[in-house]
Amino acid sequence: MIQIRLSHMQRFIPLPYKAALAPRLRIASNHLQHGDGVGGSFTGWVHLPADYDKDEFARIKTAAAKIQSDSKALVVIGIGGSYLGARGVIECLCSPNYNLKKKNTPNIYFIGNNLSSDYLSEIRELVGDQDFSVNVISKSGTTTEPAVAFRFFRRMLEEKYGKEAAAKRIYATTDHAKGALKSMADQEGYEAFVVPDDVGGRYSVLTPVGLLPIAVAGVDIDQLMAGAETMMEICTKEDIEINPAWQYAATRYELYRCGKKIEILAAFEPAFRFMAEWWKQLFGESEGKENKGLFPASAEFTADLHSMGQYIQQGERHLFETVVRFGESVHQNTVPFDEANNDGLNFLAGKSMDYINTQAMDGVLLAHEEGGVPNIVIQVGQMSAFTLGEVIYFFEYACGLSGYLLDVNPFDQPGVEAYKKNMFALLYKPGYEEMRTELLEKLKH
Ligand code: PA5
Repeated sequence: MIQIRLSHMQRFIPLPYKAALAPRLRIASNHLQHGDGVGGSFTGWVHLPADYDKDEFARIKTAAAKIQSDSKALVVIGIGGSYLGARGVIECLCSPNYNLKKKNTPNIYFIGNNLSSDYLSEIRELVGDQDFSVNVISKSGTTTEPAVAFRFFRRMLEEKYGKEAAAKRIYATTDHAKGALKSMADQEGYEAFVVPDDVGGRYSVLTPVGLLPIAVAGVDIDQLMAGAETMMEICTKEDIEINPAWQYAATRYELYRCGKKIEILAAFEPAFRFMAEWWKQLFGESEGKENKGLFPASAEFTADLHSMGQYIQQGERHLFETVVRFGESVHQNTVPFDEANNDGLNFLAGKSMDYINTQAMDGVLLAHEEGGVPNIVIQVGQMSAFTLGEVIYFFEYACGLSGYLLDVNPFDQPGVEAYKKNMFALLYKPGYEEMRTELLEKLKH
C-alpha cells in the first residue's frame, strides 16, 4: 500500500491543480496502457508484473540456485539500467553491507559501471581465489563499460576453469536476437536471458536484468513481482484521489511549473541509497530532454542533514523534497538507560530507534516546509520484497505519466550518445577520424 501525503506542500501550490491535471493524466495513462503514445513501443514494462515469461522466470530461479551452490561470488557486469535496480533492491533488502555479512548466498560485486582502473583491480582482487560466476547484462550488447569489464572477467574465468567450464559460469542477459553479447552467448554457449524488446534499460529491473542478481542474493522474487502486480492494478484506476502515481506525477509537475526545478528524493534509511540512484536514472533519463525536466537529486537522512541540510533549509528556493517513508523497521532497538547520564541522553532511554527516527522525520518535514521547501511524503509499508515491488512499479508508472505531462518521450535517451561519440573518437575507434581531428583541436585550447 502506498499513500501520498501532501500536507507539507499544500501552501506552496493551490490545490485545484489536481482536478485541472486529471484529464491530462487520463490521456497519459491511456497511452501507457495501450502503448500508443510517444515512445509507445517501449511500454512493455506496464503489464510486465502479470505478463512475463514464466518459463524464463523459472530458469532464473534455477540459475540462481546453481550460482548459490557453485560460487562464493557473483560478478554483475552492467551500467545504468542494467545494474542500478538490482543493486538498489539488494542493498535495501539484504543490506548495504551485504558482502560483509555472514550468509549462505554469494557475495555480489557490481562492475562495468565505470572505467576506473583502480576499481577494476580491487574487484579482481576481491573475487580473487574464490569460486565465482559472472552475469553480464547489456540490452544493446555493445556498451563500452560493461563490454570492457567482461573481457577481464571472462579471461579470469577461462584461466581459472578452462574455456568450457568457464562458459557454464557465464550468464548473459541481453537482446533475444541482436548485439555482440548475444552473438558471443550463442557462440560460446552461455546461458542467456532476454531483455524484452519493449522494455528500456531503466524500466527493466523486473526483467531478468534485475531478477537474476536479486534472486542470487536470496530475495524472494515471487514477492517482488506480487508487489509490483498489486501496484500495477492500483495504477490503472482513473481517479486521482486513489491513484498514488497520478497524485505524485501531478504534484511534482505542478511544483516544477511553479519554479521548483530540483527534486530531492530523501529517505531516512541508508539501505535506500541505491534505490535513490535507480530513481535518479529513471526520472533523469526519462524527463531531462528538450531543455525540460526536473533535476533529480537524492539525500540520505539524517546523515545528509549535516552536509546538505544548510542548503536545503536556507539556500536558493528552487527545491522540493520527496520523502520515502517506510513502516516499522524489521529490527527493533531501544536506547539503554545510563546511570551516569554524562551525555544527557536519558530523556531517550527506553525509546525505540524507530520512534526517534520518526520524530526526526517530522521535525525535518516541518523545518523544511517552514524554510520554503515543499514536501511530498510517500508512505510505504515495512521494507520487504513485496513493498519494494510496489515502490518500483509506482515510480515507473509515475515516471511514464510525468514524461507525458511534460510532453517529452519518456522512453528514449538521445543525449547519452554525445559523450560516447567523443570518447570513441578520442579512443581512435575506426570511423571517427574526422571527429577526432576536431576534438583534438578543441582540447588544445
Ligand atoms: O536506460 C537505459 O536505457 C540506459 O541507462 C541503459 O540501461 C544503459 O546505457 C546500459 O545500456 P545497455 O544495457 O544497452 O548496455
